[in-house]
Amino acid sequence: ELSPADKAKFVAAKRACDYVQTGMKVGLGTGSTAAWMVRCLGERVREEGLKIVGVPTSTRTAELARQVGIQVVSLDEAKWLDLTIDGADEFDPQLALIKGGGAALLQEKIVATASDQMIVIADAAKEVATLGAFPLPVEVIPFGWQTTKALIEETLVALDVMNREVSLRMNGDRPLITDESNYIVDLHLKRIGNPRQLALVLNQIPGVVENGLFIDICDVVVIGHSDGRVQVRD
Ligand code: A5P
Repeated sequence: ELSPADKAKFVAAKRACDYVQTGMKVGLGTGSTAAWMVRCLGERVREEGLKIVGVPTSTRTAELARQVGIQVVSLDEAKWLDLTIDGADEFDPQLALIKGGGAALLQEKIVATASDQMIVIADAAKEVATLGAFPLPVEVIPFGWQTTKALIEETLVALDVMNREVSLRMNGDRPLITDESNYIVDLHLKRIGNPRQLALVLNQIPGVVENGLFIDICDVVVIGHSDGRVQVRD
């Protein structure tokens, strides 16, 4: 039996898999919700003979995709994707997202941007009026990371952001290392008044590789509820 939270993730993932058809090149997201989608697609590959290639957004997802029988290729081999299905940490009414809770935001953003369509799968708890209660992940180069963190803090002051605690994400007593060998700093902002502006300004800072704000990238959000209901927002 699935827990209520897993049931909500599962029904959203299952519904999103209906968008996938034979012949498609599909971006495979990362996280607990995306893992349900990967398992669900694997089942269709094995049982219906669905023919797809998958481009994973993390080493974790690549491993799971291979395990369940999905043919895995790199983004450079696939070149362009029909569809990416991924989770999110928050989504707002404009379908802007915060992603990167699982530290995979860089590959996730590259893959989603290389897709004709991005479908987000989420449980209802991820829906917010304003982004920012979830700490915003920003991927930074390890070289000079403390300087980069200070520049991020200065930028937040310049933007008149009230809550601006910035913390290095740890893995035990060491900095967490991403799949691209970078660090993650988390921006505790409580609310992000202008996500479009913040996304642009953060990426101008030397040492910042990418931020977890996805603006104008997501086309559809499939929302799962623990009672099995599914809503589609587009
Ligand atoms: C991974 O870096 C994230 O962007 C995930 O997509 C996000 O954290 C959602 O994860 P869950 O589905 O586990 O909540």
